Amino acid sequence: MTNPNTYSEAVRQSLQDPESFWLSAAEAVDWYVKPSRALSHEGTSSGTWFPDGTLNTCVNALDRHVAAGHGDRTALVYDSAMVPTQRTYSYRELLDEVSRFAGVLSGQDVVTGDRVVIYMPMIPETVIAMLACARIGAVHSVVFGGFAAEELAKRIDDAEPVALVTASGGLEPTRRVEYLPIVSEALRLSERAPKAVIAKRREGFTAAPDQGWLDWDAAIADALPADPVPVRATDPLYILYTSGTTDKPKGVVRDNGGHAVAMTWSMRNIYGIGPGEVMWAASDVGWVVGHSYIVYAPLLVGATTLLYEGKPTGTPDAGAFWRVAADHHVNALFTAPTALRAIRKEDPDAALAADHDLTGLRAVFVAGERLDPSTYEWTTTALGLPVIDHWWQTETGWAISANPWGMDGMPVKPGSSSVPMPGYDVQVVNESGEPVGPGVEGSIVIGLPLPPGTLAGLWRGEDRFQRSYLAAFPGKYSTGDSGYLDEDGYLFVLGRSDDVINVAGHRLSTGRMEAVVSAHPAVAECAVIGIADQLKGQRPSGYVVLKADATVAPEKLRAEVVQLVRDRIGAVAAFRDLTVVDALPKTRSGKILRKVMRHITAGEEYTVPSTIDDSGVLVGLHERLSPDLAQ
Ligand code: COA
Ligand code: AMP
Repeated sequence: MTNPNTYSEAVRQSLQDPESFWLSAAEAVDWYVKPSRALSHEGTSSGTWFPDGTLNTCVNALDRHVAAGHGDRTALVYDSAMVPTQRTYSYRELLDEVSRFAGVLSGQDVVTGDRVVIYMPMIPETVIAMLACARIGAVHSVVFGGFAAEELAKRIDDAEPVALVTASGGLEPTRRVEYLPIVSEALRLSERAPKAVIAKRREGFTAAPDQGWLDWDAAIADALPADPVPVRATDPLYILYTSGTTDKPKGVVRDNGGHAVAMTWSMRNIYGIGPGEVMWAASDVGWVVGHSYIVYAPLLVGATTLLYEGKPTGTPDAGAFWRVAADHHVNALFTAPTALRAIRKEDPDAALAADHDLTGLRAVFVAGERLDPSTYEWTTTALGLPVIDHWWQTETGWAISANPWGMDGMPVKPGSSSVPMPGYDVQVVNESGEPVGPGVEGSIVIGLPLPPGTLAGLWRGEDRFQRSYLAAFPGKYSTGDSGYLDEDGYLFVLGRSDDVINVAGHRLSTGRMEAVVSAHPAVAECAVIGIADQLKGQRPSGYVVLKADATVAPEKLRAEVVQLVRDRIGAVAAFRDLTVVDALPKTRSGKILRKVMRHITAGEEYTVPSTIDDSGVLVGLHERLSPDLAQ
């Protein structure tokens, strides 16, 4: 049986007969043991996919293309605007490097099921390390390079890796970020430090590795290539930590089989990319977009993937993206609205785009945060191309709602992330969990089971998985986002309904920031909320009540708290705003009313909850947070 090639038929079949829809999609993957069934409910509340299948994800991404005679085809293009340099890997070359690095890991006693933490910048060795783990059935956990030592240590303690792979550092426009001291500090803070650390040397960095750490180049030079290890479809491929509402990150677990099937299906049917074509996801390998659409999906379908180290502006100018797209004949570009806003700010007439030959580019895909209609209009006009918004999360690994561009496509509606993808039973519900009608805002939930490729659970966190995703609306997965469906079934995502914020397309926890801000000795209590930001979509804003005996001047306090957040979470938190207030609005039980604070700062109407402790606090807050409104 073949998968349907129209959107409506694909959705119908995926929901009415998921077995045959996904078994047919699984035909695109090479299995050691082909799955005899798609879905199992045994032992899980949310279902597992392809329970009796075995495969190897690295074999699907590399070996099979070489075996099919495509070894000379380009697998990976590395383009760094920071060094600057360009390098190309054929499928054969990438397979060779990956097999040998898998040999390095095996030589360090890493075996199937062991975890390997990867703390690396945007260089080819990061992709090689990830695929090498997949080859031997080890579970990688990539930590974004913008996180500080304490965040890295938390992830090490949770994942308990046998090895850690790193590099000398990363390049930001105004500074070099030395990774080795961060790794050293993280290992010092960690209670579960790995036995082996392997570091890739990069020119221009000064910090030396600690004693006993292996040098990547020396280790790989002597390594014997490792053969791929068959794993069960349900075995974990990776853990990716993401921000929840508390200060402890959530380790999203991705399986091998469902992931390979979903990645392959989505690459072809959403992005319209097939063998030999060029996919560029201008994200970072440390985020889910990087995992799915820089590393796995393009290679699984035999396409070329582009790994870009640089920013959309200032490297060297706001034409950086168009130069890269033209140089490498990119067919599909995936980026975040923030990046487009940054380009627009510096090149409002898109003159730099017109300087480049973008005829290969067929569409621009955006995700990570809401695509505001103005950025949508500007990009569509500037490039004369379809601009396709799609909505998803680290948890789902691929789009929940998108435009089936590689199938028959759907008309684009500005402000909407388009229509639910096959396998996702998307509903908008009220507080009691009842579906609401078209145009009515509510919580966005997904009926179970979630399709293949979505989270297989939280790492050692079954209770938290239940509490975070399944408890609010039993039988349904809570996305944490709110929005509405229109009469045509298009989904409009309006934003998070919890305390997670999205800063420049980076998902961050205000709970974690609050834990750090409260650690300042002058702070009695605090709240951090996300407020609107013209460039970054949202930015964190902190409100503190000082201890009675605190004498620190507000400006000094702000500088100290900003530095504290930078040191303990990382520069990526982009925490800069701090306001001292007399009190925070709370319920009688002492819960801070962050939602009310968000409404005040946005100048919006709100209803004072009947459980509020002291409405006088609100008057004071209005004066501080929004003085114009208070008059
Ligand atoms: N390593 C170390 N530091 C990092 C980092 C990394 N990998 N990534 C970001 N940072 C630092 C930045 O240097 C900056 O530091 P600074 O305060 O010293 O200037 C800080 O974290 C904040 O970074 P950011 O919020 O990204 O702001 P920016 O001004 O550097 O860049 C954009 C703004 C819009 C260009 C950038 O955020 C962007 O390209 N965003 C798109 C993100 C994305 O692709 N998300 C994935 C979903 S598709
Ligand atoms: P992350 O897990 O980092 O990918 O962040 C997921 C969150 O980003 C979602 O829950 C949304 O809040 C937000 N998000 C992602 N894509 C979109 C989109 N297309 N429109 C609106 N919000 C989005």
